[in-house]
Amino acid sequence: MSRAPLPYSQKILELFRNPKNLGRMEDATVSATAGSPACGDMIAFYLKIDENMIITRASFESYGCAANIATASMLTEMVKGKSLEEAWRISWKDVANEVGGLPAVKLHCGVLAVGALRRAIREFFKERGFKPEWVPDEDTFEEKQALEEEKLAKIISKRLLLREDGETRE
Ligand code: FES
Repeated sequence: MSRAPLPYSQKILELFRNPKNLGRMEDATVSATAGSPACGDMIAFYLKIDENMIITRASFESYGCAANIATASMLTEMVKGKSLEEAWRISWKDVANEVGGLPAVKLHCGVLAVGALRRAIREFFKERGFKPEWVPDEDTFEEKQALEEEKLAKIISKRLLLREDGETRE
């Protein structure tokens, strides 16, 4: 069965072919790894944060699709020079707009990028033992959709088992 190509914007294709800030950051102040329960793909987000809590650099590694690479790359550009609070307030819709829109079946890929960023910011405060009031106690939608590796592995192995039993198909 052949599949029609997804209607990716020019910007997504451009960033996918030539992503900015791709790669591990050895001297990162904080990092977070997250996986998408929707597709099982993973992403890591790295932030370099100065003493005024301004993000001076951001980078990412993605084992996801073109939409994930493009949105993560865009996000690393969007957060540069921003305060942690400003970066926190970037929603997956903002990122989707910046890349010229995402096909409906690829919205979760942008959500995953923002979820990983927010988890990194949350981790930054956790390591320092305090939390500003703009970080809610409850995980946000984006964070919930960006699961920790262990949680993701559990979901995926459950799905594989179900498939082996022939009970379900995705
Ligand atoms: Fe998994 Fe896009 S399909 S990140």
